[in-house]
Amino acid sequence: MQSFDFKCPTEVVFGRGAEEQVPEKLKAYGAKRILIVYGGGSVVRSGLLGRIECALTTAGLVFTSIGGVQPNPRVGLVREGVRRVLAHQLDFILAVGGGSVIDSAKAIAHGAANPDTDVWDFWCGRAQLTQSMPVGVVLTLAAAGSETSDSAVLTNEDTGKKQGLNSPLNRPVVAFLNPELTYSVPKHQLVAGSCDILMHTLERYFTAVKAVNAFTDMVAEALMRNVVTQLRVAVAHPDDYDARSELMWCGSVSHCNFTELGRCKDFACHRLGHELSGMFDVTHGDSLTTMWGWWAEYVYHDDVARFAHYAEAVWDVHEGTDEAKAKAGIAATVAFFREMGMPTCFSELGIGELNQVTIHNLADSFSAGGTKRVGSFHPIDKATAIEIYNLANH
Ligand code: NZQ
Ligand code: ZN
Repeated sequence: MQSFDFKCPTEVVFGRGAEEQVPEKLKAYGAKRILIVYGGGSVVRSGLLGRIECALTTAGLVFTSIGGVQPNPRVGLVREGVRRVLAHQLDFILAVGGGSVIDSAKAIAHGAANPDTDVWDFWCGRAQLTQSMPVGVVLTLAAAGSETSDSAVLTNEDTGKKQGLNSPLNRPVVAFLNPELTYSVPKHQLVAGSCDILMHTLERYFTAVKAVNAFTDMVAEALMRNVVTQLRVAVAHPDDYDARSELMWCGSVSHCNFTELGRCKDFACHRLGHELSGMFDVTHGDSLTTMWGWWAEYVYHDDVARFAHYAEAVWDVHEGTDEAKAKAGIAATVAFFREMGMPTCFSELGIGELNQVTIHNLADSFSAGGTKRVGSFHPIDKATAIEIYNLANH
């Protein structure tokens, strides 16, 4: 097992009515003047935003709200949020929504704590993040895992670049997880989010670290099996509390680094997907299921035994050689994506067949102009990215 340092400080308040504890918990974290961040309106329609605002008022807390966060959240709205925090001298950011809202809240916190730096500079590496503000989360969608993760992903609408930032300062101080709040998530978003949950563990399961790591492997395999099982239940019965609970908790565990301990990250598929989202504004989970099967087909020769182990542990493939099992495990994963109605190539993703100039542009951005390789299981350079994009290009 590789050495590690694990600190996941987010307080998780889980269960029915969890969000009712918002005023009391926020006060405990020193909040007096709050910025509420939300998305395109689902929390307005459900009444959740109104209930939270009412509870904050009753508790004597001051707040102002900013809505309109879009999926693949834009830095422009983040800059507006920073201005609000500074103008109203706010001291706490509360995200009410999914990953895009949470990532915007994290970015607003960073920007407001560093008013002399343009917030995008932290994402493009021009500035180092050393301080931020406290962020809380009322989660409405089990997917990105941003409620416990040390990551935040933004899109610069001027350049079309979608970029992640990893920092311990991205960890929210508190997250309220009420599975009932996810009942209203549309089916495709439920499925895309759950595939993202799967991917966060897959991207840590296939890595450069080959040493024995039995416990982390067992946690990872149990999580992936559970997501597959519970997603089928949640699709058939959207208001199944137990299935929604399992998915919600798996989402938080899958991306808090717990399924990585003793290994390391890969995340090449995420980066391949982010380029597609940055250029075509496609849903994050869709970009991942489009790329994973092709990535796996390209790299599995590097460690056939590992892919065979995955096939046995997650998909109950027990017959044949390691080579046959490895292939069957990849096929089972892709078949599950298809069963759930997820895209597995560019035409299914809705972007059609791309010309080679576009493929080169995607690979160029992926590899920072050909200067960087991404991932650890099989580090992907620009030329390899072109090959993998081309495998998906039909
Ligand atoms: O905007 P509203 O109206 O709220 O609707 C949203 C949005 O249209 C809707 N939704 C959310 N909760 C709902 C609901 N609709 C009905 N009922 C509810 N309860 O779902 C749509 C998608 O929301 P979004 O927040 O974009 O989805 P998700 O949670 O999947 O987040 C995706 C974003 O997170 C990033 C992705 O790249 C993408 O930008 N990621 C963030 C990570 C992190 N910070 O750790 C890690 C991930 O790998 C990922 O990259
Ligand atoms: Zn993801």
